[in-house]
Amino acid sequence: MSYLLMQSITKTFPGVIANDEVDLSVERGSIHALLGENGAGKSTLMRILYGMYIPDHGRILLNEQEIRIPNPRAAIRLGIGMVHQEFQLVPSLTVAENIALGYEPRRNGLVDRKTQRLQIEEILARFGFSLPLDKPIAELPVGIQQQVEIIKLLFRKAELLILDEPTSVLTPQEVESLFKVLQTLREQGKTIIYITHKLREVKILCETATILRRGKVVGRVKVADASEKELANLMVGEQVIDQVFPRSQGVGQERLTLKEVSALDDRGVPALKNVSFSLRAGEIVGIAGVQGSGQSELVEAISGLRPVKGEIWLNGRRITRASPRRRREIGLAVIPEKRKEQGLNLSTHILENVVSTRYYKPPFSGWLTLFTRPAERFAARVIAEYNVAAPGVKSMVKNLSGGNQQKVIAGREMIDQPEVLIAAYPTRGLDVGAAQFVREAMVKRRDQGGAILLISADLDELFAVSDRLLILYEGRIVAEKRPDETAFEEVGLYMTGHLHAG
Ligand SMILES: Nc1ncnc2c1ncn2[C@@H]1O[C@H](COP(=O)(O)OP(=O)(O)OP(=O)(O)O)[C@@H](O)[C@H]1O
Ligand SMILES: [Mg+2]
Repeated sequence: MSYLLMQSITKTFPGVIANDEVDLSVERGSIHALLGENGAGKSTLMRILYGMYIPDHGRILLNEQEIRIPNPRAAIRLGIGMVHQEFQLVPSLTVAENIALGYEPRRNGLVDRKTQRLQIEEILARFGFSLPLDKPIAELPVGIQQQVEIIKLLFRKAELLILDEPTSVLTPQEVESLFKVLQTLREQGKTIIYITHKLREVKILCETATILRRGKVVGRVKVADASEKELANLMVGEQVIDQVFPRSQGVGQERLTLKEVSALDDRGVPALKNVSFSLRAGEIVGIAGVQGSGQSELVEAISGLRPVKGEIWLNGRRITRASPRRRREIGLAVIPEKRKEQGLNLSTHILENVVSTRYYKPPFSGWLTLFTRPAERFAARVIAEYNVAAPGVKSMVKNLSGGNQQKVIAGREMIDQPEVLIAAYPTRGLDVGAAQFVREAMVKRRDQGGAILLISADLDELFAVSDRLLILYEGRIVAEKRPDETAFEEVGLYMTGHLHAG
């Protein structure tokens, strides 16, 4: 008998059937993959299981008992926990305080810190974690923060853990540690539901998978019996996913040049150190590096969001101190790393989001007016060409699925054929088909003479589309390599500081 059974779950939002008679069954002590295109209904189904949404109808059985989950607190009481993509940690509190938050053991009404500490240490020992319990969350890398989220669930005695695209924010090294953690949890009898777009992860981790398409279950498979290709076909239909791209056919003028650029990070510590390179028309330059090597500061420096020493030139003009808007005017487009803070305004609709970076230019704007027809046409084009699942141009961005939010930004920045594009993690959160589309769009733009700087945590992606790779390590460019002449492992060694330039 299944440990978890969800039966005929239906959930509608205005204009959208997010889940349409969905059945899901999961065995105890297994890792079950929940797969499907952007907007297929994965997060919605899991939010129902975690008590964040109430389904229109359907039943949920846990251990053969029908249960009701009116809110997350009830889910936790039933042993169900969820790690969201945006972590729910308090940056200023320590690891231990975060783990126990809201569930502190008490004695005579007061928090019993000693018992709390013992309980946490016991969990760490049992599952083989080691965490700096007294450090504030803000000082820890993302991979460790995610482990804190997982321990938090175990502290609340979760038996069923839901992870929604846990690896999209992790470096390859952190992904490896997460896999070990999840495998240990399974050995100890925990049950895991794992949402991902990465089929390699499914093959490594999961026993079974359920595939959703447009809100409906289109398949349930034993992972061992299906190839990555078959899984991809189930997800996106019979599309051909081709990973081989042609290289640059020749480069033109310098479009973007950095000369001895240095910058500080948010804490005032040097994060970029004398970075010099140039990007030419007709090439894609990939930036490889472990997370926190200066990528964020590099993108912000070029976009005009972070002051720098040194010089930055764009299309033959010095823009070192130019405003972000001025840079856009002379040909820069940016897909930023933090889509919710720097890329989108969640509290408004798609239309306003896609014209926000160009509202001051014709055809959108004339003398003190914003022309709505061209704006609507533009937004409709982004939705159509980038296959954004949304009822219309006036759909609120906060109601879009994660991947569809990413498509809105990618479409807005790429659709007008920018001369220079800075693409920071452009395929993060996209399903295999959409990621392929964005990679093809970058290659196409390059072949028409665009200059693209691609920042990615996915080495496969960097190798697939880059003409040159620059490797960032501790804020410096330590190597430049051609992907066709370089082994994966060699780049890995530069990224981790085991190989040095020279
Ligand atoms: N609160 C909401 N209001 C309106 N529509 C919503 C809401 N939440 C989700 N939707 C819609 O329901 C559909 C399913 O979204 P969901 O987030 O479950 O997709 P997903 O499979 O997780 O996609 P992704 O891979 O992009 O994260 C989408 O069309 C989305 O726009
Ligand atoms: Mg989702």
